[in-house]
Amino acid sequence: MSKLWNGRFSENTDNLVEAFTQSVHYDVRLYREDIRGSIVHCEMLVKQGIITPEEGERIVQGLLEIEKEIEEGAFQPDPSMEDIHMNIEAHLIEKVGPVGGKLHTARSRNDQVVLDERLYLRGEIREVVDLIKNFQRVLVMRAREHVGTIMPGFTHLQHAQPVRLAFHLLAYVEMLERDKERFMDALKRVNILPLGAGALAGTTLPIDREWVAKRLGFPRISANAMDTVADRDFILEFLAHGAITMIHLSRMAEELVLWSSPEFSFVELSDSYCTGSSIMPQKKNPDVAELVRGKSGRVVGNLVSLLVVLKGLPLAYNRDLQEDKEPMFDTSDTLKMSLKVMAGMYERAVFNVGEMERRAREGFTNATDLADYLVRKGVPFREAHRMVGELVAYCLDRGKTLEELSLEEMRGVAPTVEKDVYEVLDLQRVVDGRGSLGGTSREQVEERLKIWEELLKEA
Ligand code: ARG
Repeated sequence: MSKLWNGRFSENTDNLVEAFTQSVHYDVRLYREDIRGSIVHCEMLVKQGIITPEEGERIVQGLLEIEKEIEEGAFQPDPSMEDIHMNIEAHLIEKVGPVGGKLHTARSRNDQVVLDERLYLRGEIREVVDLIKNFQRVLVMRAREHVGTIMPGFTHLQHAQPVRLAFHLLAYVEMLERDKERFMDALKRVNILPLGAGALAGTTLPIDREWVAKRLGFPRISANAMDTVADRDFILEFLAHGAITMIHLSRMAEELVLWSSPEFSFVELSDSYCTGSSIMPQKKNPDVAELVRGKSGRVVGNLVSLLVVLKGLPLAYNRDLQEDKEPMFDTSDTLKMSLKVMAGMYERAVFNVGEMERRAREGFTNATDLADYLVRKGVPFREAHRMVGELVAYCLDRGKTLEELSLEEMRGVAPTVEKDVYEVLDLQRVVDGRGSLGGTSREQVEERLKIWEELLKEA
């Protein structure tokens, strides 16, 4: 097909170059945003008397028909037409005649493409935020069931102090809340009207950007045309926040992989979220969690990819910027799928309450409590730390836990110990002793849980 811009050209584009420069196989995904933006642009041209109402009417009709054709698969964009914007415009001219050529008045693909991306990301961010909320709801629901479940809390993946499973799950909810906040904040900078910047310097025609902004629901209008067509920070932010969220999902996924191994046996994943091995009949693999962990690599890569595209680009628009779309689509698709499968996996997981509690009693997770007890009896903390360390070594030699030691055995190392020490070593007491703000005591966990249940109530 003949190019819309070929006035000054005397030779046709080389086939190889056509194949190399076209982007329509992915930017076709922006057709709805493109048509929506074009319709409002066209209505503005009519309102400003730049084109006649009859012309505007025919253009809008044509655009609506094209939208339907793409939806129904009746119009296949042509790669030789470069991108989705050119495809729609060429098809419009085909349909309504030369009047279709008036649509691109006072507009450049440089501001048009950014408009499409901003409209697209606005929708994606809303979806992502909803999916994060949904995942948080699942975690809060599971936390509610497991306020009473005690498990070992880890540092260095070694038993540290016992915690409630609800507390562990609520830690994820806090992580996800920060992700949500970041996306909501990014939305402020996505939600800016770029249209009207033209190629890079504005236009000589009497356009009305305020009107377009209102019609498209943009609370702000970009202030410098050159910045408008060169800026992809709003996509970078989306990619960065997506990468951080994926890293969170990956950490959670890694825990599910560990916890579902026979060595941990903390959780039984649902059969519907696992796969088998083609050779080993006994296997049930946590592939979904592994893939979330694996896909986080791609999403981090997408951020790096656009950062590198932007590095060293002079103002204003450069064709390099066409490379912004594949990372954007991929991050969005991957993130949304990952949020969905993680929520599904947690919803159906069965936690092994007995095993968690049994393991919480191992590994001397009450050792800090014994040290704190000695401190309350007047022993300097450093001394107390050493004494408890000695008692732990004593226990290890004899295969005992601290609470299994007799008073005499304890006094041999820490003379100030009295009978009330056994209360302090009790697992429930150990957990509920941590009642400082943000701690793992039942009271603290219940309080935070209630706040989350309130915040995440379905609107
Ligand atoms: N497909 C192009 C992109 O995504 C559209 C803008 C092209 N502008 C230009 N001056 N060639 O960046």
